[in-house]
Amino acid sequence: MALRPIIGGALAALLVPAAALASLVATGALAPAPALAGGLPIALAAFGFAALRNREFGRLAALARSAADGGGPERGGEQPGGRAAEPWSGGATEVARAIERLARVAAAGSDNTGRRRRADEMVVERLPDPVIVLGPDRTALTSNAAARTAYGADIHAVLRHPDLRAAADRACSSRSAQIADLRLPVPVMRDVRATVIPMDGTLGAGGQAVVVLSDRTRERAVERMRADFVANASHELRTPLASLIGFIDTLRGPAASDPEAQERFLGIMAEQAARMNRLIDDLLSLSRVELTEHESPSGRIDLAALLPRIADSFEPQLRERDMTLALDVPNLPPITGDADQIAQVMQNLLDNAIKYGRSGGVVRLSASAEAGDLRLPTRPGVVVRVADDGQGIAREHIPRLTERFYRVDKGRSRSVGGTGLGLAIVRHIVNRHRGQMVIDSTEGAGTIVSVWLPEAPKHGMSAPEQMRGSAASA
Ligand SMILES: Nc1ncnc2c1ncn2[C@@H]1O[C@H](COP(=O)(O)OP(=O)(O)OP(=O)(O)O)[C@@H](O)[C@H]1O
Ligand SMILES: [Mg+2]
Repeated sequence: MALRPIIGGALAALLVPAAALASLVATGALAPAPALAGGLPIALAAFGFAALRNREFGRLAALARSAADGGGPERGGEQPGGRAAEPWSGGATEVARAIERLARVAAAGSDNTGRRRRADEMVVERLPDPVIVLGPDRTALTSNAAARTAYGADIHAVLRHPDLRAAADRACSSRSAQIADLRLPVPVMRDVRATVIPMDGTLGAGGQAVVVLSDRTRERAVERMRADFVANASHELRTPLASLIGFIDTLRGPAASDPEAQERFLGIMAEQAARMNRLIDDLLSLSRVELTEHESPSGRIDLAALLPRIADSFEPQLRERDMTLALDVPNLPPITGDADQIAQVMQNLLDNAIKYGRSGGVVRLSASAEAGDLRLPTRPGVVVRVADDGQGIAREHIPRLTERFYRVDKGRSRSVGGTGLGLAIVRHIVNRHRGQMVIDSTEGAGTIVSVWLPEAPKHGMSAPEQMRGSAASA
């Protein structure tokens, strides 16, 4: 125990009684001997009081230190060893209670801060968009799970992109969020929008900014497709329109008095007008099919009855090309579908087989409840095949045939009245029916298009239910 504070405290306590005794002795009111005899117990009491107070101060200091270190107050009057805590004396009790209360409030506060920080980290970690926290040197301090999955080891390469670095500089100097649209070539070409948000070093261990990366590859592709579509559609309409305008001028001018030329030109004009009409019909049907693509059809179709009817309607075109149609359609289970749309699929496929098949050749239309093809679903359904023995399609074109306006030989297709939308419409209808289409072709030998469509549900189950069930088992 340190003696100096005790002696100091005792001397301070003795100051007043010692002065009083001294003045009594000085004035002769009290003899020195009794004054000494009376002063001794007072001095002893002062020393005792000072020692006690000094000990309480020591304990209070220890309590405050432990609270400051986060040790918290001794709970339930117990000391760490399980011994009962010694009671406080006098005014120290109040001070000790206040320190204990302060310690409890501080401990609860730091608990909350820790919990909040962990929650913040969890939110960032689980955000569906890739998030990267930048340190003072603009390198990655941390990144969340989505960023690690999407970019892996390429995160550092992404951060080195000059446009992203410039956006980070702007964000830190202007203290406001900045956007950079990036094109990332590796590992696959991606369009990414990076938003850099300045954080004033408050995030993680000194995070200066947060980079949120949103993948816009699909959106960009859709935007490009729409722009291409509008350009293609207007181009396809402009060609016959320009020809019509030209012929009208000729009929009014040079051919005004030439009945033979008029007859010929009117024939071409009728053809061009019919072509524009077809194109507009195809565009409308494409947009109708696209609109309903997400609704499952609910009708029941008997293909064994529908296919021969459609085949009959092609009689004039077949005759024109000196072709024959071989029909092989046995009894079939009903399929789920929209009869008008399924008829449109079959018409487009037969139209292609006749247009691009061999003049004088054979077109085969067959259907079967057995797919017999590993590329088609194995669940109950019907596969319809349209085959021709024409010039076929080179392998590199096959994957692109269902793109809008895609034609292998533009000149040939146009000369036979094609707009390049037929197979795009077929694909959308087949998708809507949760079906599948496969195109096989051998150059010089011919083309076979197979379309698989799901069988209609047995009674007691709705079509959408069966479709969901079959999709789940696929
Ligand atoms: N049976 C086939 N044999 C050879 N080529 C084909 C056959 N079917 C389609 N093609 C090729 O695929 C292209 C796209 O066919 P699609 O049916 O989409 O358009 P189209 O026949 O040109 O025009 P539309 O069908 O709109 O009148 C055709 O232009 C043609 O080049
Ligand atoms: Mg076609």
